[in-house]
Amino acid sequence: MQLSDNHGRKFYYLRLSITDVCNFKCEYCLPDGYQHTQKQCFLSVDEIRRTVESFAAVGTEKVRVTGGEPGLRKDLPQIIEAIAAIPSIKKIAMTTNGYNLAKHAQTWKDAGLSQLNISVDSLTPHLFNKITGVNRFDDVMRGIDKALEVGFDKIKLNSVLIKEFNDNELQQFLAFIKSRKIEMRFIELMECGQTGDFFNQHHLSGDGMKTFLQQQGWVQQLRAKDDGPAQVYSHPDYQGSLGLIQPYAKDFCDTCNRLRVSAVGKMHLCLFGEEGVDIRDLIQHDEQQPQLIDRLQQAVQTKKVSHYLQQGNTGNTPHLASIGG
Ligand code: 5AD
Ligand code: SF4
Repeated sequence: MQLSDNHGRKFYYLRLSITDVCNFKCEYCLPDGYQHTQKQCFLSVDEIRRTVESFAAVGTEKVRVTGGEPGLRKDLPQIIEAIAAIPSIKKIAMTTNGYNLAKHAQTWKDAGLSQLNISVDSLTPHLFNKITGVNRFDDVMRGIDKALEVGFDKIKLNSVLIKEFNDNELQQFLAFIKSRKIEMRFIELMECGQTGDFFNQHHLSGDGMKTFLQQQGWVQQLRAKDDGPAQVYSHPDYQGSLGLIQPYAKDFCDTCNRLRVSAVGKMHLCLFGEEGVDIRDLIQHDEQQPQLIDRLQQAVQTKKVSHYLQQGNTGNTPHLASIGG
């Protein structure tokens, strides 16, 4: 059985947030830092296991652990192990800001993590610190070295394109991936509910970069069915590759293959524009799996054809940390 929607899209890929807490203050995400309000109770290892088992039963093959910052959870190795133990899950990826990667890369790998995405918005230390609001550049760089040493199946770096911050850094990023087997991904800034002003001042289209890359001999690769929405380019002189994510591009949502579950157990059909469907009541016992699958199937039928970001829709998403970027 395969989870699919009314627009012919099949869902192979689950993005699972395990905390919305973050220790960074990225300008475009949590400029004032994470606000601890009422105490949130995040999904337990068992709730996570049941969630992923049910998704796996309807076709999910890849899980990405996200946050907030997933590295903040003490039981992260147990979470990874529980997901890795599910036979039909072929890939486990995680998105991290990298602050404690150097210390834990080996443990996470041993637990079963196969891919890592590390957010690196700038390779210039003072700019990195300015964008993220913390002085962690060196820690993150050590983390990347360690991750390369440990040898994950795939390592990607995420950089959000930000006008007046990192728009002059392409050459630096290119030099970085010349002899490192890393996919460097540039993501166009997305507008969220709480960060609209920043978006208006700093959004930068990736079109200029795309033209430049094509002129320089970079060639676009084909997409695998569980790949994300990046257009990936490679070049014979580079060990690394480049990915460009343009959420405002026409038809961006046509190839959507992912669903999301938030750290408090709501399923979201999209990053933007809906309340989420609560599934927490159905991940309390293993026997609830058929009921949960029923609910998932009904919910995906309501998935909209597009996020309508182009029309300025930010839905209910205050910032991406709230739902797992
Ligand atoms: N627009 C684009 N990318 C974002 N991210 C977080 N917020 C935004 C936004 N508003 C990125 C982070 C991280 C990934 C999870 O999403 O930089 O790399
Ligand atoms: Fe934290 Fe990621 Fe948001 Fe930065 S973008 S504040 S690292 S959740």
